[in-house]
Amino acid sequence: MCGIVGYIGYEQAGPFLLDGLEKLEYRGYDSAGVCLNNGSELVVKKAKGKLEVLKKMTENGSTLSGTVGIGHTRWATHGEPSDVNAHPHLSESGRFAVVHNGIIENYQQLKEYLTAKGIEFRSMTDTEVIAQLIEYYYKGNLIDTVIKVLGKLEGSYALGVISKENPDEIIAVRKESPLIIGLGENENFIASDVTAILSKTRTIYRLENNEIAILNRDGVKIINTDKDEVIKQTETVEWDVSAAEKGGYEHFMFKEIMEQPKAIRDTISPRINNGRVILDEIKLTPEEIKQFNRINIIACGSAYHVGVVAKYIFEKMLRIPVEADLASEFRYRDPIINDKVLTIVISQSGETADTKEAMKEAQRRGSHVISIVNVVGSAIAIESDDVIYTWAGPETSVATTKAYSTQLAVIYLIALYFGDILGTIVSDEYSALVEKLEQLPDKVTEILDNKEKIQYLASKYFNSKDIFFIGRNIDYALSLEGSLKLKEISYIHSEAYAAGELKHGTISLIEQGTPVIALVTHEELIGKIVSNIEEVKTRGAEVMCIACDDHPEIANIAQTVFIPKVCDMLLPSLAVVPLQLFAYYVASLKGCDIDKPRNLAKSVTVE
Ligand code: AGP
Repeated sequence: MCGIVGYIGYEQAGPFLLDGLEKLEYRGYDSAGVCLNNGSELVVKKAKGKLEVLKKMTENGSTLSGTVGIGHTRWATHGEPSDVNAHPHLSESGRFAVVHNGIIENYQQLKEYLTAKGIEFRSMTDTEVIAQLIEYYYKGNLIDTVIKVLGKLEGSYALGVISKENPDEIIAVRKESPLIIGLGENENFIASDVTAILSKTRTIYRLENNEIAILNRDGVKIINTDKDEVIKQTETVEWDVSAAEKGGYEHFMFKEIMEQPKAIRDTISPRINNGRVILDEIKLTPEEIKQFNRINIIACGSAYHVGVVAKYIFEKMLRIPVEADLASEFRYRDPIINDKVLTIVISQSGETADTKEAMKEAQRRGSHVISIVNVVGSAIAIESDDVIYTWAGPETSVATTKAYSTQLAVIYLIALYFGDILGTIVSDEYSALVEKLEQLPDKVTEILDNKEKIQYLASKYFNSKDIFFIGRNIDYALSLEGSLKLKEISYIHSEAYAAGELKHGTISLIEQGTPVIALVTHEELIGKIVSNIEEVKTRGAEVMCIACDDHPEIANIAQTVFIPKVCDMLLPSLAVVPLQLFAYYVASLKGCDIDKPRNLAKSVTVE
C-alpha cells in the first residue's frame, strides 16, 4: 500500500522526505514524489519507478527548497504507474497539494461533477479529485474546506495536505488507512507508519478515524470533523526499524493474514453499489457473456487453488462447464480453446511466466481473457483483454494469504455478476448473497480474533513428518491451499486429497499418529466426510477438523476449529484462515524463515 511522509520545521524538508520514503519502500510501490512549499509556490517532483529516480532528479533532495513538505510512495490502484499518476497531486492552480493512501470509492462521480464545472484533470487517479475539490470549495479557510471535502468522500484515506495559502501548516486526516503524527522539537512529522520518522522522534500520536491533525512548527492540534479539539495521549515507540516495518508483527506473513479483512473490503466495496455488483472492468456485453459455453481458469500455485474453488462455485451458480488448469500444463497439451471459451487468468504478481505464456496461448486460440491481478500495470494485467484488480496492497511474504483471499473475493463478484446476466441466480438469492458478501470482512475478523485453538493444535503437530489435508467438493479445493501453505513455509511433507479418493490407495500411508486435517464445512457432504474421518481414525490417524459453528457435534469425533456459518459460496474465504494460521504457527515453532522460504521466489518469472 502507499506510503506517506510529511515535515514541517526549520530544516530543509527535502532530505528528510526522501529518507522517510526510503524507510517505507518495503510497503511496495511503483512511483514516488515530493512537494515542498519553497516560500512562494508549491514545487512537485515525482516519477515512475524506484526512489532512485527521484533521488537523481533532486540530487538526493538537495535541489529541493523549503521547510514544509509532503512525500509519497504510490502502490497503484486507479491509474497505472506513471509520472503523472504519481503523488503528490496538485489542484488546477497549483495552490493545494495532496498525498493519499487508500481508495476513494466515489471518485468517478466527483470527477464528473468537477469536470462539468470546467476543471481539467491531469491524472487517472482517484486522489487528484481531493486536491481539485479542496481548490473548488476553498473560500479562505483551509480547515473548513478540508472538512467540507471529507464530507464528499466515500472510501478509505490517509491524507497529507499542504497549501500555498497556509505555508506554515500541514493538515493530516485519517479514515481507515493508518496515519501517525511525529512530535519533535520545533518540528513535526506525518507518516504512514513509524519507520519513516524513527530517525527524528519516537513520540507520536496515532490518528483515529475522522481525526484531523493541524501541524505547525511549534505544535500539533488534533480536532474532529466538528472542529472540537481531541485530547490524545502521546505514545513512545520502543520498536526498532525492522519490527516497525512489519507493523509490529514478527513476520510479513502474519501481518498480511491480519490485513485480510481490510484487503477483502477494499476489493469488494468499490464494486458493490446499492446492492448491485458493478464490474465495469469487464468490457464484455451481456450478449457476449451468454455466448460462452465454457470457462477455463489458468494459474499456478495458490492462484491455481483459487481456480479450483472457482470451478465449484461457477459450476454451481452459473451452470456452465468450468476447467481449472495448471498454466504449465495448459500450454503444452494443445488445449481445445476457441472464442466460445472464456479464459480467466489469476496471478498476484501478474508476472508469472507460466501463467503469462498460457494466457497468450489462450488468446492465440481466440479466447477472451479476463485477468485477476494484484500488481497494477503488470504484464498479465496489461496483456489480458480485461483486468480486475485485487486491492490487497503489496504482498511481501512469499507465501500468499491476502492476495489469495482477495482473488476469492473477485471470484464471488464474477459469479454474482455473471449469474445475474445468465439468469441462473434469482433476484432474492442475488440480493442475499451480495449482503452476505459485504459482511465477509467482519466474519474473517471473528476468526482472527480467536486464534488460540489453532495455535494450540500447531504446537501438537509441528514435529510431524507428514500431514494430510482432506475434504470433499469445495473443501477439497481448499485442502489444496492448506497443504501448500504448510509445505512451503514449514517444509513438512503434506498432501491434499479428495476424501472420497483416499480408500483407492493413499490411505495405506495412514498409520498410528498420522495427523489428518479434515475440512468439514460443505453442508451437503458432512455425512460423507465424517465417514472418511472415521476411516482414517480407525487406522490410527489423529484428526483435526475445521467445521462451521452450526455443527458442534463435529467436536465429538475430532478436535475441531469452528468458523462462523456462512453461505456455501463464501465458506472458502473463512475456512482458509485457520489453514493459513496453522501453517504459520507450525513454521514459527520450527523456527523457519517464514517470509523467505528456501528455494522459493515471490514471483516466478522463469519457466
Ligand atoms: C503461494 O503461497 C506461492 N507464493 C505460489 O504458489 C504462488 O501462488 C504462485 O507462484 C503464483 O504466483 P502469482 O499469483 O504471482 O502468479
